[in-house]
Amino acid sequence: MDELGRRTILTAGLATALAACTTTPQPAPARFDPDDWDDVRALFPLDPDLVQTAAFVLAAHPKPVRDAIERHRQGLDADTDAYLHSHGTAEEELRKTAAAYLGGTPDQVAFTDSTTMGLGLLYSGMRLRAGQDVVTSTHDFIAHHTALDLMARRTGAKVRRVALYDDPRSATEADVVARLRTAIAANTRVVAITWVHSSTGVRLPVPAIAAMVAEVNAGRAPQDRALLCVDGVHGFGAVDLPVAELGCDFLSTGTHKWLFGPRGTGLLWGKAWDAVDPVIPSFSEGNSPGARFTPGGYHSFEHRWAVREAFELHEQIGRDRIAERVAIQATRLKEGLARVPSVTLITPDDPEMSAGIVCCEVEGRYAYDAVVALRQAGVVASVTPYEQQYLRFGPSIVTTPEQMDRVVDAVRALRP
Ligand SMILES: Cc1ncc(COP(=O)(O)O)c(C=O)c1O
Repeated sequence: MDELGRRTILTAGLATALAACTTTPQPAPARFDPDDWDDVRALFPLDPDLVQTAAFVLAAHPKPVRDAIERHRQGLDADTDAYLHSHGTAEEELRKTAAAYLGGTPDQVAFTDSTTMGLGLLYSGMRLRAGQDVVTSTHDFIAHHTALDLMARRTGAKVRRVALYDDPRSATEADVVARLRTAIAANTRVVAITWVHSSTGVRLPVPAIAAMVAEVNAGRAPQDRALLCVDGVHGFGAVDLPVAELGCDFLSTGTHKWLFGPRGTGLLWGKAWDAVDPVIPSFSEGNSPGARFTPGGYHSFEHRWAVREAFELHEQIGRDRIAERVAIQATRLKEGLARVPSVTLITPDDPEMSAGIVCCEVEGRYAYDAVVALRQAGVVASVTPYEQQYLRFGPSIVTTPEQMDRVVDAVRALRP
């Protein structure tokens, strides 16, 4: 037997042994009650003395995710070759888990490292014909606009940015849809939007926008159809609407924000893959779009594979309960802040036009100064990373409704 043959048998043996002890998902501790929010909070090592309203920016790892990462790390460190071989189907399994959460089918899911990577892959590979253009908004994250600008440089396409509201607080579904409809021209190939604006907290009515785009597309040839592309990161895991039911053609999201999955993980979901070419060679098994669009190269697999535990935890707690918990806290926070004379709210009250992000201004305080002062008062907040800077809060499964009152008190105590 040659060296390769011996090695294959050895690896197969090790793989079987390892598979037996490493692929079983580790449940949360036996005493964990997914209906008890204190138990959920206790899964996170985040400092309990602080009100963690910036936790959505980059996830802390809950215990099941931490344990899975550690398990994979130990396996990879102990015998990388055998562990890799024993996890040959891990990505495909993850694709099924993701599809159960997203709706649609597993082959629609490509794995990425972040929302930004997904947007880069999408627009770098999007085929545009001469004369086709792109409509986006003025409210999106810089990474989205840069990805579109890079596509424009590659293809010569014109990118038009339109304001979908003037005053975020009073944004309405009808007006947003009408403004976008007016902006779409006969040659528009890409409509690029963001589900929940991290600049203002406004949630776009994506299903209504998708219905409008479908009307625009009626009668258009497949290669002329306007493709609805969504940066979904602040709706994903915060709003209880399966991605496949939004009606968009593509959605990029990190799984390391509201889903509280491993840092450095995300996915690109799509149903119009024929319009795009892969830009990074894939290492994935199979020829499905999800496999072909998952960038290859070896990854930090301990994080990639532990996305599964994040989905499982989310489902165990209940996606509807989580969305409700986020909405209840955001509403309580907005109601409290509205009673503080120095505060101007930016985010709409309407839960249908908002999600977990709550933005405001405090009279006489720059947003960054306010964040520093709030931390001293035990509240971790953030600033909108845009030209217009607002003070921003993001209640989630690591905060409580009662803590929202503490946030309001801390904001009230801010002196100009
Ligand atoms: C709307 C929006 N999209 C994308 C990102 C970047 O996400 P990721 O770290 O997953 O690339 C952010 C902020 O981090 C954001 O606010």
